[in-house]
Parts: sequence; C-alpha cells; structure tokens
Amino acid sequence: VSNLITIDGPSGSGKGTVCHILAKKLQWHLLDSGALYRILAYAALQKNILLNDSKKLADLALTLDVSFVSNGTGVDTLLAGKNIGDKLRTEIVGTAASEVASIELVRSALLARQKAFLQKPGLIADGRDMGTVVFPEAKVKIFLDASAEERAQRRFNQLQDKGFNVSIAQILSEIKERDYRDRNRAIAPLQPADDAFVIDSTELTINEVVEQILTLTEL
Ligand code: CDP
Repeated sequence: VSNLITIDGPSGSGKGTVCHILAKKLQWHLLDSGALYRILAYAALQKNILLNDSKKLADLALTLDVSFVSNGTGVDTLLAGKNIGDKLRTEIVGTAASEVASIELVRSALLARQKAFLQKPGLIADGRDMGTVVFPEAKVKIFLDASAEERAQRRFNQLQDKGFNVSIAQILSEIKERDYRDRNRAIAPLQPADDAFVIDSTELTINEVVEQILTLTEL
C-alpha cells in the first residue's frame, strides 16, 4: 500500500508533531493511535475499572463512543460527545494508557477501529505498532527515536508551555518506566519493523525529520 506512512517510536520522539505536519502537507488522514489508548485509559479511570481487568477493558474498547473532529486549528477529541482533549496528555493518563496497552484483548479490540482510518487519499499512522501489527502492508515505515534525556526535555518544554508545574527528573523517570514497559511487553512490543527506516531525531529539528521522511517517501 503506497498511500500509507507508518511512524512508530517512543514517547517524545517527535512523532506527534511530525505526523501532524505530514498529514497537513499531504492532505492525508491522521491516526493518532496513542490517543485511542489514552481515551480508553481515561474512560476506565472514570468508570473505576481496574487497569488489569482485561475483559471489562476490552468491552469498553469495543463500545467506546469516540470521534475526532477538526475544529479549524486542530482536532477535538470527543468521548460520548464531550470534548476531553485537554484531559488526555497528563502523565497519569499516559501511564494508565501504557498499562491497558499491554493487554492483548484490548489491543485486538482496538484493531478494526484503527484499520478503518486507512481511507483515500492516504493515511499517516502514528503509534508504537503501526508498521509491525496494524499496517504491516505499508510501503514506508519510519521508526523515530531520540535519547531519553532529549525526549524528557521536549516533554518538559511542552508541559511548561501549558502551565504545568513539573520536574524534569520526574518526567525522565516516567519516560524511562513507560519505555521499559512498552519495549518489554509480550504483545506488540515497541520495536522497529524489519523493513522500517530508523531516524534518530536527538540532534534534528522537526523540519529536518519531515524532510527526511518526504525524501524517503519520494513525495
Ligand atoms: O505521546 P506519547 O508518545 O507519550 O504517548 P502516546 O502515543 O499517546 O501513547 C500512550 C501509550 O499508549 C504508550 O505509552 C503505549 O503504551 C500505548 N500505545 C500503544 O501501545 N500502541 C500504540 N499504537 C500507541 C500507543
């Protein structure tokens, strides 16, 4: 499939920003698969569902009433019609997302939902297992990485801009913990697909990463 670019990588590698820019440039659809795991985790926390209750979490994943709606400047994330976009980026939800994401039943419950994003004219798929599990047929697969320290610094800057009072040491330890869980889980561990191009963005600007991907894609 040539109208599909998968971009996988750890937290803070710049995937989210790069994917938004690419989707806008190419006028393709965007799948933010991490948002699905975050929404599920948020909904579970709200409903007091235990984060190891596979059956209940998988049921919730199948029935979740989620939509992503463009609002001119970005995308609103609606859960049962309510905009919850600003609730999803906290480390509590991120950590809970990584916990529910390690459950096989949950991942399979979210599979069809993710595949349905592949529509004309094309799709940029952002996540951890886009190239390995969800869209193995993609022609261009990117694995975007950066050092843990650089990724913590980026997340710190993002959160500070939003007015959150956080310490960089805490972010670094949370990033390392989440990386460890994502890379070592039994199901769909975070790792480059065999045919992925690995880009280390530690020393690169966002635009340099976007240019590299467009060159690789020949678009
Ligand atoms: O933005 P950030 O990279 O920090 O996280 P995210 O992409 O929103 O994903 C949150 C969590 O969901 C990750 O730590 C993963 O555990 C999980 N996830 C996953 O397992 N598979 C995906 N395709 C996307 C996210």
